Amino acid sequence: MVSFDFSGKNVVVTGASRGIGRAVAIKMAEAGARVLVHFQKNKKAAAETLRLMSQPKRGSHFALRADLADPAAIREMVDEIDKEFEKVDILVNNAGIFEPQAIDMNFDDWADAWQNTINVNLMGAVHLTYHIARRMVKSGGGKIVNVSSRGAFRGEPDHPAYGASKAALNAFGQSMAVKLAPDNVQVFTLAPGFVETDMAEDFLKGDTGEAILKQYPGGKVASPEEVANAVCYFASQGQEMASGAILDLNGASYLRS
Ligand SMILES: NC(=O)c1ccc[n+]([C@@H]2O[C@H](COP(=O)([O-])OP(=O)(O)OC[C@H]3O[C@@H](n4cnc5c(N)ncnc54)[C@H](OP(=O)(O)O)[C@@H]3O)[C@@H](O)[C@H]2O)c1
Repeated sequence: MVSFDFSGKNVVVTGASRGIGRAVAIKMAEAGARVLVHFQKNKKAAAETLRLMSQPKRGSHFALRADLADPAAIREMVDEIDKEFEKVDILVNNAGIFEPQAIDMNFDDWADAWQNTINVNLMGAVHLTYHIARRMVKSGGGKIVNVSSRGAFRGEPDHPAYGASKAALNAFGQSMAVKLAPDNVQVFTLAPGFVETDMAEDFLKGDTGEAILKQYPGGKVASPEEVANAVCYFASQGQEMASGAILDLNGASYLRS
């Protein structure tokens, strides 16, 4: 097992009620961090994440609800974070949705589906980064890890807004890495392929599951814990030179040059 030390660090993880975000929250807590478990709808699942987490030495973990598609809700969440955390050391922009946008949809549905995906996957991370990065700059530094996707590079024929939102998230992270470097804020991006979570569950079953596994020369897709390890690696002290990097986590299922 890879071990990390986040003693005394305050961490914000979006989408920590389930999947990758939950694995990140648990791993960060095991390593000593105090964590905000963000969720949108699943209060019970967020409570379960909290139950699974080791307690920090000072304070305790807490959960907050916010729809990341709503800039006002993000602002309210940040006000609550300010009451709990003196400063934020690490922000993990992980929450996301994977909804279909078919070219044969009617136009209103197509436009709504695009807007929703861009609002959650891109603008949610953009606006939360705006608020948290300003605080990091004031407090002397911090680390931001964005969870993107292989789809940003490989294309998403049935989920084009998802691929576009993640490609834009990559560009956003790289722009911020340059902008914030003088203020000791590093920004990293992960691009996982399929990961065993609720988001991928239906695709990993039956015939589609078999077809997906054929893309993976190692015969398996990633676990949420493997992605969480990579988040923790970038969020650790000593990886500052990797700022601006986009790390593929796809089991060599898609190699980009
Ligand atoms: N699973 C994969 O195969 C895969 C592959 C590549 C990249 N990724 C990326 O990894 C990240 C995590 O995915 P996952 O597989 O762990 O997903 P997941 O199991 O479906 O969990 C999604 C999380 O995002 C939250 N969320 C959904 N809509 C939201 C909204 N409007 N506002 C705020 N939070 C919202 C959910 O909160 P509630 O529980 O409250 O609904 C939940 O915590 C995503 O960015 C995804 O694109 C996943």
